[in-house]
Amino acid sequence: MSIHFQKEKRIFTIHTKHTTYQFMADPYGFLIHLYYGEKTEGTMDYLLTYMDRGFSGNPYDAGEDRTYSLDALPQEFPFMGSGDFRSTALIVRNEDQTYGCDLRYKSHQIYDGKYSLQGLPAVYGEENQAQTLQIDLEDAVSGLTVTLYYGVLPQYDIITRSTVITNGGNERIYVEKADSGVLDFVYGDYDLMTFYGRHAMERNVSRTPVDHGRLCIGSWRGASSHQYNPAMILAQKGTDEDHGLCYGMALVYSGSFSGEAMKDQYNQTRVLMGLPFEQMAYPLDPGQKLIVPETVMSSSSRGLAALSRNFHKCFRRHLCRGKYQMSPRPVLVNSWEAAYFDFTGETILKLARDAAGLGIDMVVLDDGWFGKRNDDNTSLGDWQVNEEKLGCSMGELADQVNALGVKFGLWIEPEMVSEDSDLYRAHPDWALKVPGRRPVRGRNQLVLDFSRAEVRDHVFRQICQVLDHAHIEYIKWDMNRSICDIYSEASKDQGRVLYDYMLGVYDFLEKLTSRYPDILLEGCCGGGGRFDPGMLYYTPQIWCSDNTDAIDRTRIQYGTSFFYPVSCVGAHVSAVPNHQTGRSVSMETRAIAAMAGTFGYELDLGQLSDEEREEVRCHVQNYRKYYRLIADGDYYRLSDPFHDPLAAWAFVAEDGSEALVSAIMLEIHGNMTVNYLKLKGLDPSALYKDTHSGRIYSGGALMYAGFPLPVKNGEYRAFQIHLEMQQEVE
Ligand code: GLA
Repeated sequence: MSIHFQKEKRIFTIHTKHTTYQFMADPYGFLIHLYYGEKTEGTMDYLLTYMDRGFSGNPYDAGEDRTYSLDALPQEFPFMGSGDFRSTALIVRNEDQTYGCDLRYKSHQIYDGKYSLQGLPAVYGEENQAQTLQIDLEDAVSGLTVTLYYGVLPQYDIITRSTVITNGGNERIYVEKADSGVLDFVYGDYDLMTFYGRHAMERNVSRTPVDHGRLCIGSWRGASSHQYNPAMILAQKGTDEDHGLCYGMALVYSGSFSGEAMKDQYNQTRVLMGLPFEQMAYPLDPGQKLIVPETVMSSSSRGLAALSRNFHKCFRRHLCRGKYQMSPRPVLVNSWEAAYFDFTGETILKLARDAAGLGIDMVVLDDGWFGKRNDDNTSLGDWQVNEEKLGCSMGELADQVNALGVKFGLWIEPEMVSEDSDLYRAHPDWALKVPGRRPVRGRNQLVLDFSRAEVRDHVFRQICQVLDHAHIEYIKWDMNRSICDIYSEASKDQGRVLYDYMLGVYDFLEKLTSRYPDILLEGCCGGGGRFDPGMLYYTPQIWCSDNTDAIDRTRIQYGTSFFYPVSCVGAHVSAVPNHQTGRSVSMETRAIAAMAGTFGYELDLGQLSDEEREEVRCHVQNYRKYYRLIADGDYYRLSDPFHDPLAAWAFVAEDGSEALVSAIMLEIHGNMTVNYLKLKGLDPSALYKDTHSGRIYSGGALMYAGFPLPVKNGEYRAFQIHLEMQQEVE
């Protein structure tokens, strides 16, 4: 049992393997947060202090007690209208334009298994793996009810939270702000870590002290965005990879979102995560409800590395789904950087022939196979195969590729429409546009109104036509612009459109994955613009970035590793000079960077020299050999490539029996200094053999003394060391 209820004091306690979370429904029925952190027994209501504080109001039923104020107490679900003037998790506008709201505890349920959310992705867990706590709060005046869900996966120190807001009254209301993730601490000094970036340079790491004033991240682009990943870490000052207390929050959602952290007037810290309050006023008629996407939370008192591994395991084992969830992914070659729009069926066949000779499993035909699309200005929305360009049908092309012993995959971008398309000419109102205004274009394309079922169904039917007539084993689902002109012909209330759009995308993905359970889906949004837990529920891998430069990738993949498992990180070896940066690095370096992901190629294999082809064969074999270690092993960051002269990471078998250590030098200087690498996760009392050199090391020595990386001239040298635990002391 992870969830306990103490009846007299109405205290709820959640225990996971290493953490405890506690709150209570106090005598007034308000939910007061008590504790989250290292595992402990006992009730912690003694931590609360009550004082008569100026300008911190008191609920009416506190009578003459001026020491009780929701402006000062830590809360489970702070809401506007309670006299809490900090940023709150809920803002509801009533039909009469007031913001009156008074949510009190009504009832609760505890049950085995993890709750699910209708129409939204969510972490899942069987009855023997997870538990749910469900708490109903009610506003007696308006009839508004809020149900708080807590899902517990004790094994991974994971607690998820979601909120369902139901209009139980007689009049329409508007939800203007709704969060699911809340952390409220009565004291402490914390840093907020966020993962910011831009197209082709996603998930840089920022660490900023939480102080007075509000730190806000988020997206109002309709996608979770390249600019801020929907994930944050609150770290106690001084917390590093291996020491200190930290809390992670990640939103299982792929649309606009909001994340906030702040210190209040009493130096208390509050963190919130959920739907964005920009451009949102979600109407609820009597009886209707709004489901707020869930926030996955974890806490570690052993530093950031343990926190990351909790998220890796939860996402890989309890969020990703389908045939490919745990099974090896095909090593693929993608046609994009190999040929861009300039290909025929023969180009793809040639790529497949080259792939077959190198042991590559799959060829993926990227953008440009449909309508009359020979550049990125046309044909989105017309998902008819351009047989003239291919010289055959898609089915024939796939068969010819398959005949070479190579699998075949395809790129699609279902949410978009080009103005130059038959679809747009027939249904101009299907694109999101504000009436009377000219829309903002992005990559010269508009966004289809996926909040409307008829729009989705039309695109779905077209795509099924292609998939039903060709042996396609992989789909790359792209989304190549931000959403700006928010107006749906189908709705009078524009404050709901972005959320309904996301439900529409999820509905489409659910239909696609149920109809084609054997197809592997890879998410993509100009690379990593929708790299989030929501997409992972449908696509067990996501193209990490349009930037394939191995050196930039070490930083992008480092930032990505704080929440996301390696098994979901789309990473390919591409040509040099790199198309995004112009930088040239060795094939070895490119391969080692791409092996910290799903591994594949994105170049014209026909251009490779014999020597390079030999290297590719060897890298593909190595990737297969180490696959289990890479995908299922524990991931350790061994350096910070934003600040250190090298990027280094390791995959270590959970039982410590084996490790694969990778390092890429980021600097070289005259009379070079030596860099020592300290390993992690090994058994200190065991001996390990470097399977390449045969040299034996003590696990403890490798971890506590480290070992010197070879000093070799040349830029961006890469090293990979495979260690095996020795059964007997030699
Ligand atoms: C996006 C993707 C690329 C490629 C192109 C095709 O930018 O991230 O990998 O598929 O679209 O237009």
